[in-house]
Amino acid sequence: MPDPTTDKKSENEESAAPRAQTVSRRQLLTILGIGLNVIAGALFAVPVIGYVLGPAGRRAMGKGLEWVSLGSLAQFPVGETRLATYRNPFVRPWDGDTGDIPCWVRRVATDQCQIFAINCTHLGCPVRWFPQSGLFLCPCHGGAYYSDGSRASGPPPRGLFQYDYKIESGGLWIKAGQMPTLASPPSGACADQPVRCSCA
Ligand code: FES
Repeated sequence: MPDPTTDKKSENEESAAPRAQTVSRRQLLTILGIGLNVIAGALFAVPVIGYVLGPAGRRAMGKGLEWVSLGSLAQFPVGETRLATYRNPFVRPWDGDTGDIPCWVRRVATDQCQIFAINCTHLGCPVRWFPQSGLFLCPCHGGAYYSDGSRASGPPPRGLFQYDYKIESGGLWIKAGQMPTLASPPSGACADQPVRCSCA
C-alpha cells in the first residue's frame, strides 16, 4: 500500500520546483535591467564629460593657438589673393587630412598681408575667391565678401575672420590652431567690424 506521507512530500517538491524557477527568472530580468541602465548611463555620460572637460583640455594645449608657417612670403605676389594650407598644430594622430586647414592669403603690400579663415561667418561653408569680380563668394546661401574680407551682402553677420600674422626671415607665419568662430574669434578679429558684429 502506498505511503500517503511520501506522496504528499513528492507533490510539494513538484510544486516548489516551478516557483523557484519563476523567482530566478525575475532576478535575471532585474539584473539585466540594471545592466542596461548602467550601459545607457555610461553612453550618455561620455559626451557630457567630454563637453565639460573640453575647454580645460584646450587651455592645457596653450590656449589653442600657436605660430604656424605658411611658407615663403615670395609665393604670395603683391596684389593677389591665394589659397594656402597649414597643418593644425593641435591635431591628433587619427585626425588625418582633416588637420590640413586652408586659408586665403591676400598680399596687400610688400610687408602687409591679410589672412582670412576660409569659413563663411554665416554657417561655416568654405568661401571661394573670384578675382574677376574681386569677391569672396559662399556657395551655401549666397554670402559675399569684398576683397578685404568685409561683408558685402547675404546672410553673413560680419566679415571674414582674420588670422594674426607675422613676417620673419622672408617667411609668413600665422597664429593658428583653434578655429575662429563667432563665439571665440581670434584676437583683434573684430576691431574692423561694423556695429552689427556680435563679438566686438
Ligand atoms: Fe555662407 Fe550661409 S554659410 S551664406
